[in-house]
Amino acid sequence: MAITADFVKRVDVVALKQKVKAMYRDVALDPHGEFHFEMGRALAERLGYAPADLDAIPSEAIDSFAGVGHYFDFAALESGETVVDLGSGSGTDSFVAALKVGPAGAVFGIDMTDAQLAKAERLRAAAGFENVTYIKGYIESTGLLAGTCDAVISNGVINLAPEKDKVFREAARILKPGGRLALADIVTETQLPQGITCDATLWAACIGGAMQIDDYLAAIAAAGLRVTQVKDNPYEFISANAQGATRRYGVKSVSLLAIKE
Ligand SMILES: C[S@@+](CC[C@H](N)C(=O)[O-])C[C@H]1O[C@@H](n2cnc3c(N)ncnc32)[C@H](O)[C@@H]1O
Repeated sequence: MAITADFVKRVDVVALKQKVKAMYRDVALDPHGEFHFEMGRALAERLGYAPADLDAIPSEAIDSFAGVGHYFDFAALESGETVVDLGSGSGTDSFVAALKVGPAGAVFGIDMTDAQLAKAERLRAAAGFENVTYIKGYIESTGLLAGTCDAVISNGVINLAPEKDKVFREAARILKPGGRLALADIVTETQLPQGITCDATLWAACIGGAMQIDDYLAAIAAAGLRVTQVKDNPYEFISANAQGATRRYGVKSVSLLAIKE
């Protein structure tokens, strides 16, 4: 499948971004509302987050945790490193990354949704995470300097982007040579039909924009990143609609590690 042209032709990118922003505004403001997907601490623990890490970060961030996997073992963050979290949401992954890189390190969380950014920033300031900075922006074009970060992380986000090849090129651009892209995301085993990829609600629920796994890995490689690890995650959608699509098209969560050559 042609990665960019086909996707962008089939979907109204502007309408889609509005729909995604509206859904993740609700995730920030009303995490106990009704969604196609699970959120919160029980999910994070089941995916593999260490309870001790979760105890050390703001619990309100975890309430709005909408990640789909765990990849911190792949990321292997070290003290003093610079990390960029693409689609940082209410902050769970950027706060966990901040624990790993410590006061000598730095974490930049990028998100396009005002309510998510405002919540993450409020929690950051209250908890004194001096090594975290939240920036309003798009993961396709972060505005960060080229070749400046040790690791790019992301959880449940890139499936929401219509132009995934741009996101992977941006990750490769901001990474230092030898830097790591470690992420969890939703992909599919078979190509989704247009009825699903053009359904903005299923898209915003992390299903409609999911790319076929071989195409996803090829897009990462085309950006100049060598994929070294891939694993399936114990992640399930909760609405009947979402579960039906999951069964039919092999929608699933994977974590992976890729290295900038
Ligand atoms: C499923 S949530 C995951 C948030 C966070 N990683 C977590 O695990 O809780 C997706 C987040 O990505 C953000 N997002 C989606 N597409 C984006 C884009 N193109 N640029 C910036 N942020 C985006 C949304 O605003 C939302 O906060």
